Amino acid sequence: MKRLFLASVLAFFFCGSQSQTVMDSPARMQWFRDAKLGIFIHWGIYSVNGVDESWAFHNKKMTYADYMKQLNGFTAKNYNPEAWAELIKETGARYAVITTKHHDGIALWDTKANNMSTAKLTPARKDVLTPLFAAFRNAGLKTGAYFSLLDWSHQDYPGFLKDSSRYQVKNDPARWKRYLDFYQSQIKEISTKFNPDLFWFDGDWEHSAEEWQAPKLRQMILQHNPNAILNGRLTGYGDYETPEQNFPVTRPTLGPWELCMTSNNNWGYHPDDSAYKTPYELITIFADVISNGGNLLFDIGPREDGWIPTEQVHLLKELGKWTNKHSSAIFETTAGLPPGHYYGASTLSKDSSTIFLFVPTHNAGKLVIKGLQNKITSIKIPGTEQSLEHKIVGKISWSPVPGLVYINEIPASAMDEYMTVLEVKLDGPLKLYKGKGGLKD
Ligand code: GLC
Repeated sequence: MKRLFLASVLAFFFCGSQSQTVMDSPARMQWFRDAKLGIFIHWGIYSVNGVDESWAFHNKKMTYADYMKQLNGFTAKNYNPEAWAELIKETGARYAVITTKHHDGIALWDTKANNMSTAKLTPARKDVLTPLFAAFRNAGLKTGAYFSLLDWSHQDYPGFLKDSSRYQVKNDPARWKRYLDFYQSQIKEISTKFNPDLFWFDGDWEHSAEEWQAPKLRQMILQHNPNAILNGRLTGYGDYETPEQNFPVTRPTLGPWELCMTSNNNWGYHPDDSAYKTPYELITIFADVISNGGNLLFDIGPREDGWIPTEQVHLLKELGKWTNKHSSAIFETTAGLPPGHYYGASTLSKDSSTIFLFVPTHNAGKLVIKGLQNKITSIKIPGTEQSLEHKIVGKISWSPVPGLVYINEIPASAMDEYMTVLEVKLDGPLKLYKGKGGLKD
């Protein structure tokens, strides 16, 4: 609590109210902090030809007309929202985020704000979101709505193709006002129809907080649902940071954060992209994220008919096997040992009396913890009956410098297929030695 409050104060002074993520009400954020894992779904008309989501026409890889022809191929004919929710639930994820509207402006629900929706313009002829939000909720998942603030299709939106724009906001404020009314009416629809637990904005970079009316938007959302969480892509008015693909090398300290990451090298369905992460890579990245106090929002891209690529299903299932076996080391934990105390990822129980050490199976050896002042009462391997012994190396009885903890090697039979977890129980809350190794400090 204290740390977060301090973080908000610091954030306010260092960043002002404009430039950084706004942080408030730790209680509102608690489920998110405990959740650790979310699944991201990029689904839209781009999944018909398997082209870049919205960027394909914006970057002029294809014409706008050809891109929009994909409307005719979006059928959702094998779409099974309950099966999606079940698969997501199986991964251990606590929340799911779906693209309600990407930069191409095609809404996946039956919006009343214009006719640009799967319900009006595609053979699917339906709002595909209502049953999905219901299925998520039935599965006990928190729900997230991705929404692109920018809309390259809208006649009153300035941006369209790369290097060109329809107009400048400052030259035609009335036209911009029409766009603001339009997008804010869509947000109202999403709020009232789906009441998401999380609003996941994107595309804020094309305008300032003032132009987007970000404070008003935030207030509008929180007025409808005071518990809603807003991601950080809202020009300084969100609740948490959202690094993308590769996360910061140093541990983010200002508050909650979430890494969003693709399963191959694309957000949407891309059958020509076979650069899938392996389950080992996914799981070790996930461990690194939670070790640094963040969440992972892992993305899948279903095909237009609702089928999820086999490789993605495989990744989700392998991830689920691992998270279910090691749930106590993952969910409701906090960031692990600070850098320098252990060469690898770790998490701590909330009372900090248990350290969970993550050991990548492919390069496990003797493990060492440095600067631990506590006594270790047991070391267990979740999912097995195995306990491990340890040895304290180099402890002089009258010196304040703690010895090094050498943990015995993990027997091959107790190794997890991807990443083994050691549950190290301490005699009390974690106490770390921060001195320089001298007699006085
Ligand atoms: C980027 C892209 C977008 C993608 C998003 C996911 O901002 O513009 O295509 O949906 O990242 O995080």
